[in-house]
Amino acid sequence: MKILVIGSGAREDAICKSLLKNTQNVVFCAPGNDGMKLSGIKTISIEENDFERMANFAQTNFIDFTVVGPEEPLVNGIVDFFKRQNLKIFGPNQQAAQVEGSKTFTKKLMADAGIPTAQYQEFTKLEDALKYLKSIPDFPIVIKADGLAAGKGVFIADDLISATETVTDLLAEHKFDTKKVVIEEFLEGEEFSLMAFVDHKRFYPMPLAQDYKKILDGDLGPNTGGMGAVCPVLNISKDIEKEAIETVLKPFVTELYDQGIKYTGILYAGLILTKKGIKIIEFNARFGDPETEVVLPRLESDLSEMIFSILNHKKIESIKWQQKGLNLGVFAVSKGYPTKPVFGSLGDRDNFKNCSLTINYAAVKREQKQLFSHGGRLYLMQAQAESVEDAQKKVYQELEKMDQTNIFYRRDIGKNSI
Ligand code: AMP
Ligand code: GLY
Repeated sequence: MKILVIGSGAREDAICKSLLKNTQNVVFCAPGNDGMKLSGIKTISIEENDFERMANFAQTNFIDFTVVGPEEPLVNGIVDFFKRQNLKIFGPNQQAAQVEGSKTFTKKLMADAGIPTAQYQEFTKLEDALKYLKSIPDFPIVIKADGLAAGKGVFIADDLISATETVTDLLAEHKFDTKKVVIEEFLEGEEFSLMAFVDHKRFYPMPLAQDYKKILDGDLGPNTGGMGAVCPVLNISKDIEKEAIETVLKPFVTELYDQGIKYTGILYAGLILTKKGIKIIEFNARFGDPETEVVLPRLESDLSEMIFSILNHKKIESIKWQQKGLNLGVFAVSKGYPTKPVFGSLGDRDNFKNCSLTINYAAVKREQKQLFSHGGRLYLMQAQAESVEDAQKKVYQELEKMDQTNIFYRRDIGKNSI
């Protein structure tokens, strides 16, 4: 099949690599990145929000279907745009993508479905929000900007003063273009991610994964787009996994369907195991990043066939996942990330080409024989092994061989599963 993948990060690199496991497939990635080219992925220079050119490319190149990686085109309605031109595309339509685009939309769905999530209140008026903050007996509290904020719209306020500042920034200064804030209960516990392929009311869960979000070892420092991930999650039991599927995924997918929202694509649930049980932190309308990079290599079934079946609303009889060992991936990021990443050379491209492990590329570009950084998260190096320790050993040994001048990485990815 001929397949177009939209996006430019390590997640899209992983999607392409998974689709290319079927050697009959031809896979294009738009816009992709220069690193992907090292592993033979064809990149097309069309920006991810240029729907017209994307659809044109799909039309003129007889693309069988398109897969959307990032949330922005989904929330902006790329699926509706393609469908109007009778082009097959894998992802939720604009209405369904609100599960990620609007926190209030999703909170209502969760309440309707009786799914456990943090207690919350929403506000559009600053004075109401401030009055509410004054009535809160306990801090910390979580403040979220409604809408897409590129993963930066969540603030944990430790006291009334910082909560007041954040709410004022959002509702009076309209930081992140937001007009609405959600103020919610702070949840404490082990976080994990559960993704599923969704075909209207049918869904097929993937194995659990865990994203290490903080910049520094020991989960310290600010949140990032993800510094590494593991799959499966050894510190979450099979019973909890089953419970998450039964009490979160199933009722949510059913509720969407019952409310007339026809969801096709990937649904991502960000979960937390609190003392009072599993609660939802967020739903996303797409593959998680960096979870996908460690989940998809474990898929033994043909991803292209699976997506093709879902797009034709045909039931998938069985999906095979690797049962042995685990996958562990570590992101090399720019020094100074997440606040002020500094860009520079990442070394000779042959160092990357000759690496014995799988590398998923993100914000890298090629100039002559070298790769250069041009963003925060650069490349994810990953290994498959029998234990976390073995996987760490493999990944860190290879990462140490890379040019260290302009990169930084956490040394303890996978620690929660040891
Ligand atoms: P999000 O952008 O919604 O993925 O949130 C980013 C991170 O903020 C999550 O992965 C959590 O670590 C944290 N977070 C979000 N909501 C809460 C909450 N209610 N309680 C505690 N932490 C939260
Ligand atoms: N790993 C979190 C996300 O993809 O939003």
